[in-house]
Amino acid sequence: MATAAAAKAPASLPPFLAACARQPVPHTPIWIMRQAGRYLPEYRKVRAATTFAGLTRDPALACEVTLQPIRRFALDASIIFSDIMVPLEGMGVKLDYAPGPVIETPIQTRAQIEALRPLVPEQDVPFVMESIRLTRAGLPAHVPLIGFCGSPFTLFCYLVAGKPSKEFALPRQFLHAEPVLATMLLERLADAMIVYLRAQAGAGAQALMMFESWGGLLGPADYAAFALPAVKRIIAGLKDVGVPVIYFANNCMGNLPSIAQLDVDVVGVDWRTPLSYARGVLKGKAIQGNLDPATLFAPKETLLSRIDGVLADAGPAPGHIFNLGHGIWPETDPDAVARLVDYVHEKTSHG
Ligand code: CP3
Repeated sequence: MATAAAAKAPASLPPFLAACARQPVPHTPIWIMRQAGRYLPEYRKVRAATTFAGLTRDPALACEVTLQPIRRFALDASIIFSDIMVPLEGMGVKLDYAPGPVIETPIQTRAQIEALRPLVPEQDVPFVMESIRLTRAGLPAHVPLIGFCGSPFTLFCYLVAGKPSKEFALPRQFLHAEPVLATMLLERLADAMIVYLRAQAGAGAQALMMFESWGGLLGPADYAAFALPAVKRIIAGLKDVGVPVIYFANNCMGNLPSIAQLDVDVVGVDWRTPLSYARGVLKGKAIQGNLDPATLFAPKETLLSRIDGVLADAGPAPGHIFNLGHGIWPETDPDAVARLVDYVHEKTSHG
């Protein structure tokens, strides 16, 4: 029978959550952005029978594809299968995926911004929370489940441009031509993401991640003026939730000094941002990243040496979660992923 002291001792955290808290870990935890997706034949099989939107709205299917990479690889975390655009549909935005998001009527006027409904997650997107409940029940205890959303500026880019773009010229023009409206839209998006992330945590998400996929389009002054305040607003709205918050800052090396102000547990960086530099700027936070997804196409020896490079750059201090620097590419060989996951574990195991 357990003693009173043993009963009170906290159960040891799964390695992913320990790393989020910058605690020592038995091995460096690893998961992969877009780990459920088209590089897996089992995903393509499920996807062939439905649409992408259909997949996100069917909790049994979303749960199935979320679990697929966990069955195949020794990953340390799972991320719920959905998309950053899903809550926007709940706010009344009509969109489709081709495969990137295409908005029926891009948002460019005050009237359109005012017409966006405040999000009521359990009413507008109940299937997301149901997917989280189902998936949590199907995951092993040592694999935490991550819930996520897009950052306000990244969502703003898709909503204003109406489709994927490399430059997002229209949304960036809008910031400067209509700063008051732009801020209004960013704040409405932030408020929706607060209730959305809170609902995901309530349904069982054990960490919450914000994807700032397009923040790197902004220079430091515009990042600080537009993107950062909206992220701060979300973080303030999550203060009492009690799960770690991860902020993925894609191509944001120049914005890291601003990002250092954010009260988040973990910052994810892309492969262009050296982890040693990120560690130096982001003191007091854990870091996540940052193997270039292209290196998964290299011969085995090169891949392993690039993984060594990421681990060496992260250094021995606690608080590194291994990941790619951005989402895995659909053409990737799943065997290269197995090699990556197993090698990170092997190389960093402390007995
Ligand atoms: O495994 C996971 O990481 C969870 C699933 C996930 C998807 N999208 C599935 C998806 C996550 C976390 C996202 C986030 C997302 N969606 C982001 C942020 C991450 C990033 O890549 O920067 C962004 C910008 C989007 C918007 C979006 N949705 C794009 C640009 C695309 C097309 C991309 C592509 O890979 O072709 C989508 C569609 C999408 N979302 C797919 C998947 C698996 C492909 C759709 C399909 O299967 O037909």
